[in-house]
Amino acid sequence: MCGIVGIVSDKNCCDYIFDGLRLVQYRGYDSVGICQKDGMQLKIDKAKGTIEKLVQKVEPLQDTKVAIGHTRWATHGSVCERNAHPIEGKNREWVVVHNGIIENYQTLMCEMQKEGEVFKTQTDTEIIANLLSFNNYQNPIENLIWAVRKLQGSYAICAVKKEQENCIYAAKYKSPLYAFCNQDIAMLASDPICFPEGDYYKLEDGELCEVKKGEIKFFNMHGEQIQKQQLKYQKIRVMADKGSYQHYMLKEIYETPEALERLIKNFVNFDFKKLAKYKFKKVKLIGCGTAYHSCLMGARYFIKYLHVDAEAIFASEFRYDDYVINPQTLCIFVSQSGETADTIAALEKAKRKRAKIISMTNVPYSTIASLSDVVLPISAGVEIAVASTKAYSCQVAGLYLLVMALKGEKHFNRAIKQVQEVILASKNFFVNMSAFAEDISQKEKVLFIGKGCDYITALEAALKLKETTYINCSALASGELKHGTLSLIENKTPLIVISTNKKVHDKVMNSALEAKSRGAKLYLISFKPPKICELENFDFCLSLPKVCQPLLCILAIIPLQLLSYNVALLRGLDPDKPRNLAKSVTVE
Ligand code: AGP
Repeated sequence: MCGIVGIVSDKNCCDYIFDGLRLVQYRGYDSVGICQKDGMQLKIDKAKGTIEKLVQKVEPLQDTKVAIGHTRWATHGSVCERNAHPIEGKNREWVVVHNGIIENYQTLMCEMQKEGEVFKTQTDTEIIANLLSFNNYQNPIENLIWAVRKLQGSYAICAVKKEQENCIYAAKYKSPLYAFCNQDIAMLASDPICFPEGDYYKLEDGELCEVKKGEIKFFNMHGEQIQKQQLKYQKIRVMADKGSYQHYMLKEIYETPEALERLIKNFVNFDFKKLAKYKFKKVKLIGCGTAYHSCLMGARYFIKYLHVDAEAIFASEFRYDDYVINPQTLCIFVSQSGETADTIAALEKAKRKRAKIISMTNVPYSTIASLSDVVLPISAGVEIAVASTKAYSCQVAGLYLLVMALKGEKHFNRAIKQVQEVILASKNFFVNMSAFAEDISQKEKVLFIGKGCDYITALEAALKLKETTYINCSALASGELKHGTLSLIENKTPLIVISTNKKVHDKVMNSALEAKSRGAKLYLISFKPPKICELENFDFCLSLPKVCQPLLCILAIIPLQLLSYNVALLRGLDPDKPRNLAKSVTVE
């Protein structure tokens, strides 16, 4: 989603903005822009495509002291330079960058058009720039309060005013915004990774600020100045280089073992007594996309090992649908970024119902972490590729460890340690799948089947493959194939069969063979090598190394993540940046 960076400094403003934009580009973007301010002069440059395109284009002004930059992920209006931010209001009196969605922008726009206002872009953001110019209060913060009071939806806004010297004005509601200040510079950004080393501030909903060199003043919606606590800087700078890897996605898949190692260390040091006071009767696990799939896996662990009524729910459903939630409900929110808008809204709903809130996230300073009673960091390390890989493995492993800890298991980390060692030992083994990838890359439709936790792996594998390769993929509980989807099977339709549970292995095989008799081409990922008599049925077989059964799913997903990566390359696609998608979905 969109990324914001703003700076007030005597020198190098543009460089700070470009570096910051490179650090927030993981959020996903399709156009980019910067506004520099030198005295009363405002200069806006924009580019469709990459940050580097913008860098080539921008000529720094002679004495730029203020700059705001933006990476845009289009929500309202096509991807073009005109719609890229920064967006100017009437007579370029105010220029703004914005992250979020203004839900009532059309109503406001109609009202302003009646007053003779002209809109030049298709964005919801232009309404903010025009509102700011419309009612020119003496005090810019009053002006900003007047404007944002009219907005419905979500926003992180940074704005510069032509007539105001060396200052940025900012407001935040339901989209992240952070501020930083030392003697030399003051900054705003949608992620504190953009800041130099030093403590920083997190703006809360309904807070505004005025940022000058060496000074930040915070205000509430009544225009009263407020004092804020600084947050401790943690070494969180993104390692933006891919090392010897061609893509972040591959690097991140290979980082799974070290990520699991960090997870174990954190969990061993975690004080689970904090959770002992929670007397819960039901568990709801809530997330989106891949995080939802780890919730599905987590629900199985709660049911199997703690015999607790547990259910996984899409955050986007939870926030609007009816669920029985009360103080005896434990709600676990899973989110890599900790900033997913649907998950935040779901969490707020659970909080209103007084449920106990645990979050499992990769970003300990995120909104989701700050709203939770207990935070379990998954410690996967920064994940930049849009397709979530190592974070998924850490989420599943983290939920398993949580359940084991709640069960009172001693040495609960041993099983994960074993998984980590096995992945390390199997590195080359997993890679050897080129013929499989070659075959799949030619297809326009792929089906996945599995039973129990293998069905969840199938869902995650299908999401990964469709996300990175644009192949139409579906995942099914194997027994469901004959209830409709079998009609999709034609000659050589690929069916990827996942089977890691010996108790139901034969059942899964039966479903696979029913598809084979109708022309399907079968590929098997299994806990054991196929019997000689089974071999002829499969075009590809991969038997997984032995680890404890409930964690085989972590091993099973890795070759499937690698498959998605390799198929994307074979189809000439960039696996790190699938079309239309953003890493962190901060709008509804
Ligand atoms: C997975 O590959 C996706 N990019 C996506 O489904 C993602 O998991 C989802 O948007 C949730 O993100 P979060 O974990 O940051 O909340």
